[in-house]
Amino acid sequence: MTVRRKFVAGNWKMNGLKGQLGEVSAIAELAAARNDIDVALYLPATLIAAAAPLGGAVLIGAQDCHQEEAGAYTGNLSAAMLAEAGARGTLVGHSERRQYQQESNADVAAKALAAHKGGLSVVLCVGETLDTREQGDDVAHAFVADQLVASLPEGADPQWLTIAYEPVWAIGTGKVATPPQIAAMHAALRAALVKALGAEAGNAMRILYGGSVSGDNAADILHTDNVDGALVGGASLTAAKFGPIIAAA
Ligand code: PGA
Repeated sequence: MTVRRKFVAGNWKMNGLKGQLGEVSAIAELAAARNDIDVALYLPATLIAAAAPLGGAVLIGAQDCHQEEAGAYTGNLSAAMLAEAGARGTLVGHSERRQYQQESNADVAAKALAAHKGGLSVVLCVGETLDTREQGDDVAHAFVADQLVASLPEGADPQWLTIAYEPVWAIGTGKVATPPQIAAMHAALRAALVKALGAEAGNAMRILYGGSVSGDNAADILHTDNVDGALVGGASLTAAKFGPIIAAA
């Protein structure tokens, strides 16, 4: 049986100024006590250089990465730039970027590949909207599995790629998918990964759950079948809130 190491990741989104760097240090201290799991913080790009030396065992990452190596892409950042600033990984395909920046599955796959080529590990996000979920569980499973397969980069490998399932209706809403809902979706995604990548890579790739994860629900979620960790937004902004989630892993 494949043993997948638990992975607890925080996504600060568009939150955090230098005044909040003390939280990075405090989270690093909590993570230092846990050499049995991986911990990461995906920060605003402006904080990466200052946070990288504070992170210790915590992987400091970015929230997006452009698919091209350089060029006329005003406002964007390449993998090499993020790596030079001190990032060791990045998120790609977060639903907020798919929604507000109109990122397609093909864009997400290209970004993931560019990030990997630039030396970054990648957390690739997928998830369905409430509209899709309301069409039934089977429709939701098929939609997210198709989205995942269409977003997989060339050469996808569990050494550098992690999947995060985040139902859009559960992000920042306080509505959490139930453990049975999460287990059913993660089983569908596991099957899709095995089909796309083969049994070895497909079974070794980690699948995180995200969407209103908190200290109160983390233990139940993290002990659900096929859940290899959590991607946490609001509750990752302070060590006080993130600490109990790290402890639950
Ligand atoms: P949330 O965000 O934990 O605030 O719901 C999760 C995410 O979008 O990664």
